[in-house]
Amino acid sequence: MIFDTHAHYDDEQFNEDRDALLCSMQEGGVGTIVNAGSDVASWEDVRTLTAKYAFVYGAAGVHPDDVGELNEENFARLKEILREEKIVAVGEIGLDYYWDNESHELQKLWFIRQLELARELGMPVIIHSRDAAADTLEIMKEYARGLQGVIHCFSYSVEMAREYVKMGYYIGVGGVVTFKNSRKLKEVVEEIPLESLLLETDCPYLAPVPNRGKRNSSLNLVYVAKQIAELKQVSYEEVVEQTEKNARRLYNIL
Ligand code: NI
Repeated sequence: MIFDTHAHYDDEQFNEDRDALLCSMQEGGVGTIVNAGSDVASWEDVRTLTAKYAFVYGAAGVHPDDVGELNEENFARLKEILREEKIVAVGEIGLDYYWDNESHELQKLWFIRQLELARELGMPVIIHSRDAAADTLEIMKEYARGLQGVIHCFSYSVEMAREYVKMGYYIGVGGVVTFKNSRKLKEVVEEIPLESLLLETDCPYLAPVPNRGKRNSSLNLVYVAKQIAELKQVSYEEVVEQTEKNARRLYNIL
């Protein structure tokens, strides 16, 4: 079944129908979801979701846009939450020079601290990197070698994808791959082995064609998997099966 490796069902866009939507997942072919935390306030919501739904797992971390709210006190709290059974990864963490919400120095500092925390706890990482290819790779080479993880919503070149795959990382592919103007990501999907790809929504954002622009949900991953199958010239079933296997291995959900 489909494994959504990166979703945000704690987002207020799901307030109206969250339960009904999540209860329709199994029927829609979605077997497992990892809900990523992105700021301090989201951690409790992630815990609530994982407690309520057997098939929902969680990740906790602070997104580069929000690292200004981190301090030693809530960093200690993060460590506690990461020890919980259904919290399977540190994330999302990284660098975002597109929105540039926080200074690059502060983003780097907390990115490195969260990578070190993942190493200490022996957990995989979910990496967010936008318009920050060079700095991300530099930090990853120094602080993230030997860790497991995914470069989520991958937006860089094939060469960059190969670097990460060489380090043992997975490449997260979502709705963007179905966009007409996504030549670069399509090329990445063609060149990188299926064994290194993961399905993800980043919902409520980035809905694939034919639902582009609407609120996204894991049910739309059917379109992403179909596009990957077409690009790699394999069956839809093979894409779903292999990416699920990859995700289970990464998050250690057996
Ligand atoms: Ni995200």
